[in-house]
Amino acid sequence: MSSTRPGRERTPCIVLGATGSVGQRLVALLAEHPWFELAAVSASDRSRGRSYGEACSWSLPTPMPRAAAQLTVGGIEPVEEWPLVFSALGSEVAGPAEEAWARSGALVVSNASSHRMRADVPLVVPEINPGHLALARRQPTRGAILANPNCSTIGLSLTLAPLWLAFGIERLHVVTMQALSGAGIPGVPALSALDNLVPFIPGEEEKLPRETAKILGTLTAEGVRPASLSLSAQCNRVAVLDGHTACVSLALGREVGADELRAAWEGFRGCPSELALPSAPPAPVLYLEEEDAPQPRLHRELGGGMAAVVGRLRPCPVLGWRYVTLSHNTLRGAAGGALLLAELAASRGLLEG
Ligand SMILES: NC(=O)c1ccc[n+]([C@@H]2O[C@H](COP(=O)([O-])OP(=O)(O)OC[C@H]3O[C@@H](n4cnc5c(N)ncnc54)[C@H](OP(=O)(O)O)[C@@H]3O)[C@@H](O)[C@H]2O)c1
Repeated sequence: MSSTRPGRERTPCIVLGATGSVGQRLVALLAEHPWFELAAVSASDRSRGRSYGEACSWSLPTPMPRAAAQLTVGGIEPVEEWPLVFSALGSEVAGPAEEAWARSGALVVSNASSHRMRADVPLVVPEINPGHLALARRQPTRGAILANPNCSTIGLSLTLAPLWLAFGIERLHVVTMQALSGAGIPGVPALSALDNLVPFIPGEEEKLPRETAKILGTLTAEGVRPASLSLSAQCNRVAVLDGHTACVSLALGREVGADELRAAWEGFRGCPSELALPSAPPAPVLYLEEEDAPQPRLHRELGGGMAAVVGRLRPCPVLGWRYVTLSHNTLRGAAGGALLLAELAASRGLLEG
């Protein structure tokens, strides 16, 4: 992995899949990033050779960054060396491309599911399991792959981690209502999305339990020993632009009062403040008092779109407690989470040769 000194000079990086839903968020966030500088963009053959401004059907409310618009879109193979690679490719193409970049010496931060469950790939939510980054040094390549978890899993895990640490969790049932932007660009056809709910998102109900167990798991010499908790998920696509909501019912390891649950969330900080990671929200879990909160349109941007917003904590007659949580899927659940992960890796020396 080639050298950089975060805070002193910006590390040049490439975004793979820069024209997509997550790629566009990365391009927008990198335009203002103090540590990393967008140097190259890549996408499919459809876009290759064109300027980013022409190739990308920009879908964010802020203007496309001018410097990015002038970059020429390249392919996803490592023909040039870049120390830092953000991958926003679909998992059908991400696997081999990310491996090739890791072989070339790059630190690859991936949003795809291809390598998340590999024993030597850290699956990290920086506030929860920063120590799992040590796995990156066990990879056989000159560079390494770091995995950002699934978009629903990140928000859910942020709300579970403080409870897991303080009380233990025996089992939980989660029903998600996931935004359209989670399906990428062009995404769900209008005739399927409007006036509708689609009660199936391929692979999602399997990812939630296995990724949560890895994130909350224990690092060992063999890899991560998954946390022992039983999680059942039902995942739905709903007609919301951004922001995944989850209704959670759970059985904790011991009797707990509402005040203790609230205190666990409100006291949870995660990333040590001395690291001063630029994308870290001041509080990763925000509790809202209003009886009808959280709502995607009103609350997804709280904490810069990097917080898991929680509300409606109340007793559950089946499992003990229940609550609702919301997180921004392309910010906290993808591009913002990937940047925070890269910042953590840089602060821990993983970008140094
Ligand atoms: N959307 C979310 O909320 C979200 C959240 C967390 C994780 N993720 C994950 O992040 C990744 C990207 O998701 P997305 O929603 O941004 O997808 P997307 O909107 O469909 O974008 C896919 C990107 O990959 C490029 N691409 C597609 N096929 C390619 C090929 N054969 N070779 C090279 N490039 C190719 C596309 O380029 P062209 O424009 O040239 O076709 C585009 O830039 C996925 O792995 C997804 O599971 C998404």
